[in-house]
Amino acid sequence: MDATETAGAVVVVGHPLVQHKLTLMRDRDTSTIGFRRIAREISLLMAYEVTRDLPLVLVEIETPLERMAAPQISGKKLCFVSILRAGNGILDGMLDLVPAARVGHVGLYRDPQTLAPVEYYLKLPDDLAERLVVVVDPMLATGNSAAAAVARLKQAGAAQIRFVCLLAAPEGLARFHAAHPDVTVFTASVDRCLNDHGYICPGLGDAGDRLYGTK
Ligand code: URA
Repeated sequence: MDATETAGAVVVVGHPLVQHKLTLMRDRDTSTIGFRRIAREISLLMAYEVTRDLPLVLVEIETPLERMAAPQISGKKLCFVSILRAGNGILDGMLDLVPAARVGHVGLYRDPQTLAPVEYYLKLPDDLAERLVVVVDPMLATGNSAAAAVARLKQAGAAQIRFVCLLAAPEGLARFHAAHPDVTVFTASVDRCLNDHGYICPGLGDAGDRLYGTK
C-alpha cells in the first residue's frame, strides 16, 4: 500500500462539474448519445482525480527565454483495466487524459440468479507489476465483479491498484474492501443501497444498456 493510501479508503469526488454531469447521467430522460458523451466527460475528470498524486521529477528544459527545472511525471506508468462492457464507457474519457496508458480488459458477467461474477475474457499487458493499475467500471454494485476482477489482476502481478467508478453502493464498498483493503475506490457518489435485483438506488439504471442503447 502507498504511504498516502489508508486501508479501505474511499474518495468521493465532489467537484461541481462531476456532480452536475452525474445528475445528467442519472436522469432517465437523458438520451443514449447524451449519456455516452457525458460518461466520457465525467471519466476524464475522474482520471484527473485518480492521478492527482502521481510523483513528479524535475527535468531541465529550455523555454524560449531561459533554462529551467520543470516538473514532469516521474516515469510512473499507468494501465487502465476496463471491466466489460460498461467499463469501456468510462475508459475513453480516461484515455483522452492519459493517451499513453496501456489498457487491459476483464470480461465478467453477473450470474442473474446468484449475482456471482463469471469470467469470460481476460487480456492484460504483461508488465502489470510495474504499472499503477486503474480498474474502471461505472457501477460498484454488489462488489462481487469488482472484487473478482481485482483478485485476478493481483494474480497477474498487479501490485498498485486503484478502482474508479461513478456510483458505489455501501454494500458493494464493504464487500470490496473486505477483499481488497489496499485498493482505494474513487467514486462520484455513494448511493443509498442496492435493491433486490442488485441495482444501485437511486442509481442511474443499467449503465451498459444506457451507454449502448440495449435493453
Ligand atoms: N450495474 C448497473 O449497470 N447498474 C446498477 O445499478 C448495478 C449494476
